[in-house]
Amino acid sequence: MEFKDVVLKRRMVRNFTTAPVAPEVIDRMLDLARHAPSAGFTQGQSFIVVTRPDLKRAIAELCGEAGYVEGGFHPFISSAPALIIPCTSEMAYHRRYQEPDKLQEDGTEIIWPVPYWYMDIGCAVMIVLLAAVDEGLAAGFAGVPDLAALRALLQIPDDVTPLGVIPVGHRAPDRPSPSLKRGRKADGEFIHHEGW
Ligand SMILES: Cc1cc2nc3c(=O)[nH]c(=O)nc-3n(C[C@H](O)[C@H](O)[C@H](O)COP(=O)(O)O)c2cc1C
Repeated sequence: MEFKDVVLKRRMVRNFTTAPVAPEVIDRMLDLARHAPSAGFTQGQSFIVVTRPDLKRAIAELCGEAGYVEGGFHPFISSAPALIIPCTSEMAYHRRYQEPDKLQEDGTEIIWPVPYWYMDIGCAVMIVLLAAVDEGLAAGFAGVPDLAALRALLQIPDDVTPLGVIPVGHRAPDRPSPSLKRGRKADGEFIHHEGW
């Protein structure tokens, strides 16, 4: 598929068929995500793949899936064949930027202009979302309000932050998010030339 078509075809999908997704397909998607950029090549990004039905149900509960269903959406988290949990480690960035080639002249760690650990996992997540389309699949995203509970459920270390849940599967007709009614930003709002 042309890159442009992959980008334009991507949607956050909230319903999947019961067709399974082969583990090697998920592996291929995550192998591509490994090529995401990262500040200082820290590679603070990581992913957890969940396919066990009991774990998927528990994760769906943490995402408030019942609320989605009450709102007319499908149970798109518990019913997805695979869930991918993207994670980042701020600590990994501090450790990397305390290495000799990254320390400032006065021996201190940089003052971070923005939290690059979130930028880097965002880049990797985008690859996962696009790779799903390229594999003929679809993916979505659901935030998890109680990160501590997700950490406990999946034994995620304290210095690693899970960002949410990416359900992956074969696309089924879904209820579009009401947010889409906002429409896409016009050029003038989105792109500025030679300054804001
Ligand atoms: C950081 C982030 C958080 C999101 N959280 C949720 C969420 O909790 N539940 C949900 O159904 N969709 C969530 N979405 C999906 C957005 O609603 C969706 O990307 C947006 O409406 C645009 O639709 P599209 O991605 O299909 O173009 C999230 C997306 C992003 C990037």
